[in-house]
Amino acid sequence: MGTNAGVLRRYRDLLPVTSATPMISLGEGSTPLVRSRHVGKSLGCEELYFKLEGCNPTGSFKDRGMVVAVAKALEARSATIICASTGNTSASAAAYGAYCGLRTVVLVPKGSVASGKLAQAIAHGAQILVVNGNFDRALALVQAVCRSHPITLVNSVNPHRLQGQKTAAFEVVDALGNAPDYLFIPVGNAGNITAYWMGFCQYHALGKASQRPRMMGFQAEGAAPIVRGAPVANPATIASAIRIGNPASWQSAVAARDQSGGRIDAVSDDEILDAYKLLASKEGVFCEPASAASVAGLIRSTRGGLDLRGQRVVCVITGTGLKEPELASRYATTTPVEIEAELPNVEQALELAVVG
Ligand code: F0G
Repeated sequence: MGTNAGVLRRYRDLLPVTSATPMISLGEGSTPLVRSRHVGKSLGCEELYFKLEGCNPTGSFKDRGMVVAVAKALEARSATIICASTGNTSASAAAYGAYCGLRTVVLVPKGSVASGKLAQAIAHGAQILVVNGNFDRALALVQAVCRSHPITLVNSVNPHRLQGQKTAAFEVVDALGNAPDYLFIPVGNAGNITAYWMGFCQYHALGKASQRPRMMGFQAEGAAPIVRGAPVANPATIASAIRIGNPASWQSAVAARDQSGGRIDAVSDDEILDAYKLLASKEGVFCEPASAASVAGLIRSTRGGLDLRGQRVVCVITGTGLKEPELASRYATTTPVEIEAELPNVEQALELAVVG
């Protein structure tokens, strides 16, 4: 086994890499594609896989795009990067900014960011502005800043971000030998569904896949502008990562849906939490609530009549559950028990028969 050289090296021929692009890497990409042992069978889908993007260096898929955006910022001799974020983009920007000696500024919506994500931005020394408003407002602010100052925007409106993120689709095809029949994915700002579709189309055009998947995107019910067909002024959901009312890549997400013959639908917070618990308790996958929206969408779709027999399906698990550890305790099915540090106490707690 070689070391993970990162997505810039692994896919350099398919990325905007020039001789002047620094080939930086924190070891992003090459994430596991894990076969389901429980959920797939229970839904009549024999071949279900989870793409574990929480295994990226900062715990989410954002690193794939951030490494390209930051490399291009370095190439352009930019000294400062900025983003608005529901948390993961800011964690990723802060890490790559620190690694590359850039000033990093992140704008996050007040009271809306998971503790682990904020801890990452703090640890990496980013300048953190907590905005009294939602993500959509924070994004408008950073776009305004970049119009009048020489600062590089590293949100997914920066095309290099999507270029990097499309490598996840390449990896899925490289692992399976073809594109799956269906790809289930959470949708927030709608950059990732756009990037996956780009990746699948590019690999298909190159003859590396004989088909392209149906793109199945899922928003949270209280933050489902694409499903409703209108921006949501005050988006609300437990899945804070996708608490977004006016996605930047709205049109390209709709195009991915329509060109692929897929769907973009909404799932409720209860469905998201059920999938979050199911993944942790039956599949060994601890993800964040936003990530569970893909599996919640899969469950909802099969209950609604989608027949996945004989189909190959991939669910993208976009981020790790360690970002928001408090949530695990709040919805726990087990509680820690305190005991004295003696064998009988262990046996008693476990209701084991005492031998001898
Ligand atoms: N899952 C997670 C864990 C995310 O952090 C995000 C987006 C998404 C899914 C949705 O992806 O926006 O490309 O449609 N997080 C952004 C952020 C908005 O600021 O970290 P998308």
